[in-house]
Amino acid sequence: MAALIETKGLTKRYGAQLAVDRLDLTVSEGEIFGFLGPNGAGKTTTILMLLGLTEPTAGEARVLGVDPVRDPLRVKRHVGYLPESVGFYDDLTARENLRFIAELNGLSEAEAEKKIDEALRAVELADQGDKLVGAYSHGMRQRLGIGELLIKDPKLLILDEPTGGLDPDGTNKMLDLIVSLNKERGITVMLSSHLLNQVQRICSRVGIMSKGRLAAAGTIEELAADKESGMDLERIYMTFFKEG
Ligand SMILES: Nc1ncnc2c1ncn2[C@@H]1O[C@H](COP(=O)(O)OP(=O)(O)O)[C@@H](O)[C@H]1O
Ligand SMILES: [Mg+2]
Repeated sequence: MAALIETKGLTKRYGAQLAVDRLDLTVSEGEIFGFLGPNGAGKTTTILMLLGLTEPTAGEARVLGVDPVRDPLRVKRHVGYLPESVGFYDDLTARENLRFIAELNGLSEAEAEKKIDEALRAVELADQGDKLVGAYSHGMRQRLGIGELLIKDPKLLILDEPTGGLDPDGTNKMLDLIVSLNKERGITVMLSSHLLNQVQRICSRVGIMSKGRLAAAGTIEELAADKESGMDLERIYMTFFKEG
């Protein structure tokens, strides 16, 4: 499987603090990779470096084969990135917001309308597209955030805590949506979360971050059946959670 994301010794230091410490990470084509760790573990900092939004102190990354330090625009053009909080124009409708994005991506009007319809359908907002985003629930906003990413037909989605602040129903919808994008469109997903049960539910492989370091990585089965430690995944994660 091709590696869509690869980091070697990726490091970010803020003053005396190591936010990300010599991270070696691989996300392969086709997977839903869960980037798990308590608050402050370094997940967002890692994601910002993958997108070229902040420069590494040391080490390197390749995203879709591109070095985000050298060519951040090319990475941003091909990767769908959902930040922790998504910004929309509240006084515009969902459709108008997506039109704006389509225009920024250089789509023709006809192309844009087609893509917008598709995107709204994919995130189950087809009948809410003409509502002002200001009137959207948090869950609808998050789904619209994913819809926006679909406009540019990404091969890879990087989602930073996409279920943050959602209620159980909103969370379920978001997780189902991520799975369907992966299964039906073959989109590779890197998903950060501090919630083990969510990651466990939908991710094929998991990396656990703790204090800037990758403490463990593997399939859920590999991590859960870790005979050496004799612990299940929940207990492994909780030990990091307490430390973190
Ligand atoms: N811009 C910044 N300046 C200084 N410290 C930062 C900055 N961004 C993050 N940090 C610190 O780096 C560490 C990792 O943060 P972050 O990557 O946001 O973790 P996570 O996303 O896993 O919660 C935290 O201790 C945080 O306080
Ligand atoms: Mg974060």
